[in-house]
Amino acid sequence: MSLLQIMPDHDPDRVLLRTQERTEITAALAPLGVTFDRWTLRSNDGGADTDVLAAYRDEVDLLRVNGGFRLVDVVRMAPDDEDPQWPATARAAREKFLDEHTHTEDEVRFFAQGAGCFYLHAGGKVYAMVCEAGDLLSVPANTRHWFDMGERPNFTAIRFFQEEDGWVGAFVADSIARRFPGLDQLRGATVA
Ligand SMILES: [Fe+2]
Repeated sequence: MSLLQIMPDHDPDRVLLRTQERTEITAALAPLGVTFDRWTLRSNDGGADTDVLAAYRDEVDLLRVNGGFRLVDVVRMAPDDEDPQWPATARAAREKFLDEHTHTEDEVRFFAQGAGCFYLHAGGKVYAMVCEAGDLLSVPANTRHWFDMGERPNFTAIRFFQEEDGWVGAFVADSIARRFPGLDQLRGATVA
């Protein structure tokens, strides 16, 4: 299930809020300018990229127009234990976005399958948002954030861009990211 855990940015062990309630999540993220929404899951999420986009065409088209997104694509990671290269590929993919960075445009993702965790760093707090299938999340432009796909990356997400290089990040020199619990830790912990 989708999960939000908020911690002070100087104290990763202290949990200020941990919730799986959609209304609480939406309310807690709203002051940051974050959009958190849920789309009804469609059946053919495991298909080709074009199938995933076709399954959510109505929602995607609406968001494209409202958000001024010119480009939409599908990114996916799936464990392949038959492939000896997969662990290295997964590690490299995970590392890529595991340190704090910003973008000049909103980072908008819809999870059609699997899960991943966005960490937003704002107002002296870290907001760890575990997104699951059906979740749409926007990280506002210039907001410090990072993303953890866990030790066994497994997700299919639709990405929305205003510019072709919109995904390129400007990395923060004093990143605090590695001090905070990762996706696997967050999902493994019990909700109080
Ligand atoms: Fe990013």
